[in-house]
Amino acid sequence: MVTPPEISKQVEELRRDLDRHNHLYYVLDQPEISDAEYDRLFSELKDLEEEYPGLQSPDSPTQRVGAEPLAAFTQVRHPLPMLSLANARNELELEDWHHRIIKLLTDAGQKPEDAGQEAENDLLKTDNIAFVVEPKIDGLAISLIYENGSLARGSTRGNGEVGEDVTNNLRTIHAIPLALRLEPGELPPAVVEVRGEIYLPLAAFQRYNEERAAAGEPTFANPRNAAAGSVRQLDPRIAARRPLSIWCYQVGYSEGLELESHSQALDWMISHGFKVNPLVERYADFTAVIDACRGWEERRSELDYDIDGAVVKIDSYAMHDALGVVGRDPRWAVAFKFAPSTAVTHLLKIGVNVGRTGALNPYAVMEPVEVGGVTVSQATLHNEEDINRKDIREGDWVVIQRAGDVIPQVVSPVIQKRTGAEQEFRLPDLCPSCGSHTVRPEGEVVVRCPNRSCPSQIVESIKHFVSKGAMDVDGVGERLVERLFSLGFLKNMADLYTLKPEELIGLETSSSVNQQGTTVSHRLQEKSVANIFNALDDSRKRPFHRVLFALGIRHVGSINAQLLVSSFHSVDALMTASPEEISQVEGIGPIIAEAVRDYFAEPHNLETVERLRRAGLQFEVDAGEAAAPKPLAGKTFVLTGTLSSLGRAEAKEKIEALGGKVSGSVGKGTDFVVAGENPGSKLAKAVKLEKQILSEEEFLATITS
Ligand code: IVH
Repeated sequence: MVTPPEISKQVEELRRDLDRHNHLYYVLDQPEISDAEYDRLFSELKDLEEEYPGLQSPDSPTQRVGAEPLAAFTQVRHPLPMLSLANARNELELEDWHHRIIKLLTDAGQKPEDAGQEAENDLLKTDNIAFVVEPKIDGLAISLIYENGSLARGSTRGNGEVGEDVTNNLRTIHAIPLALRLEPGELPPAVVEVRGEIYLPLAAFQRYNEERAAAGEPTFANPRNAAAGSVRQLDPRIAARRPLSIWCYQVGYSEGLELESHSQALDWMISHGFKVNPLVERYADFTAVIDACRGWEERRSELDYDIDGAVVKIDSYAMHDALGVVGRDPRWAVAFKFAPSTAVTHLLKIGVNVGRTGALNPYAVMEPVEVGGVTVSQATLHNEEDINRKDIREGDWVVIQRAGDVIPQVVSPVIQKRTGAEQEFRLPDLCPSCGSHTVRPEGEVVVRCPNRSCPSQIVESIKHFVSKGAMDVDGVGERLVERLFSLGFLKNMADLYTLKPEELIGLETSSSVNQQGTTVSHRLQEKSVANIFNALDDSRKRPFHRVLFALGIRHVGSINAQLLVSSFHSVDALMTASPEEISQVEGIGPIIAEAVRDYFAEPHNLETVERLRRAGLQFEVDAGEAAAPKPLAGKTFVLTGTLSSLGRAEAKEKIEALGGKVSGSVGKGTDFVVAGENPGSKLAKAVKLEKQILSEEEFLATITS
């Protein structure tokens, strides 16, 4: 059938549009249209291609999935060997590498030679040296070969010389262009090889392992193994289901492309549609190189993918050639290694503590293990449902991870290490602190101790009361609160203001064992006691909204306390308000309003408030506070990735209701970046600019609690 020219044109335009939106979404993380709109364009193209089979092309966005499963992968020889990297385990070794290459380049530049060589020697002058620092992605190295602008072959690194042809799996990864993005009229190079690292975002890794554990299938010890497992699937439909992505870091073999430096190669890749990590930076000064490596080691946990180091590369290709390769490692690059951020250890038992609202919080007690450079023996486990969904059992070997958070997390059990002796977990029917029968309110996953006089709840609520964001009582830390409670000096937060100096002076707060093996007690001295009383005095001046937050009313975090105070100027006004009146406040919903009403309906809470009022705390606003601006006024937020509990539009509305602004890109003026699942390059940019990054949970806590 002859294809009418207007149809060919339409198909071409659809492909160009889809390709552009694919690039905006998967490479730049700046979507311009909704998923629904993308799907609509996609089906339009698919229908036309079906109707006019003559128009089909392997570069079409419709051709990412659909290849048949293979019986085995074919072996392919790389046009240039895929090398590895020498390691620097610390800053000293990094400095050594720097001195070595400077010496080698100086020697190479000074060889006696003819006139022709002189110009070449100029290129080796070390005063002009520059470096590129890149994150070392812990994934799977691959090579992509584009012939005349189209993806012709994708392969794994294999042994560096020969790898496996995994083209059909790589085609399913949206961040890999099926064709080079060219300027109008630009001719593609005859051949170009782009190399990069395939990775699985951490959230996807967790989900993947959860699914496998639930199905009783072997789990992966880290995201690298999971990514490699997905790329090495014989059925491309399986790889297509994993949200794999790529960071491209090198131009390898090429014909018809002249590049002089690595930074030129990076620019070429970016302008031709490849995903290059925005953290990559060029430096002319080696001190800045070291600072960058150190900086990433500190901030790595904020990224949503695993990095196991930083790669330092010399920028100039002339210098690469002069330095050459030793064994498999080029002299012009070095990997500054970090400690691995995942580890496998033995889960000895699941402990339970009771929070200030009575929630029973399970936590993992593990055999100490080093992860991300620190030794950990405890990790959080969110709730019983989460533990069972992940099929984590007492006695299991577990994968733990320190990422996105400083607190380590248990990702999944290592199913293949089970002996059968592992025990499924259930939260206790009796509160571990006071022995009350626990309850599970309908519709909640949290199990609670209902006893208001439960010692754990009281201690935790006093800790909250004195904490930084609340009354900020300097010198009264968690240990001291526990000690004073166990001695009976504190039964309630109001007792803080009736403490007597003689109760504190000489009080043993902790003990330690010295080098001689004798136990030494640490006791409060007069000076520290005087400081504590000054801090308590100071806390009497905290504004009403801080006091309201410090009371620890459920759902009333610092922002909600400010919202409530902006409408109710005294505790008396709030106490007598009906839930309907309370929920009139913008940003305050019925659940919060009920919680406020419930709190003030308790006689013993009223008594606490009265005692605190008598102690001189602020229970009404002064004139300045009443006119206080909205809590997020002047703050600019950027949203990236998918938020699971609310849409981006809804999140924007919330932020704006609280006086904040939402911007589409990360820049100097950004205050917070909210990173949902599968965040894109905006997250990396935020890390680079050292912006405060909030997980979805932290963001929700900011706006709702
Ligand atoms: S450059 C000679 N750059 O690290 C150049 N490699 O240990 C070698 N890797 O096989 C590659 N991030 O899989 C380079 N930004 C990066 C990298 C990187 C991760 C991996 C790559 C390589 C291994 C070498």
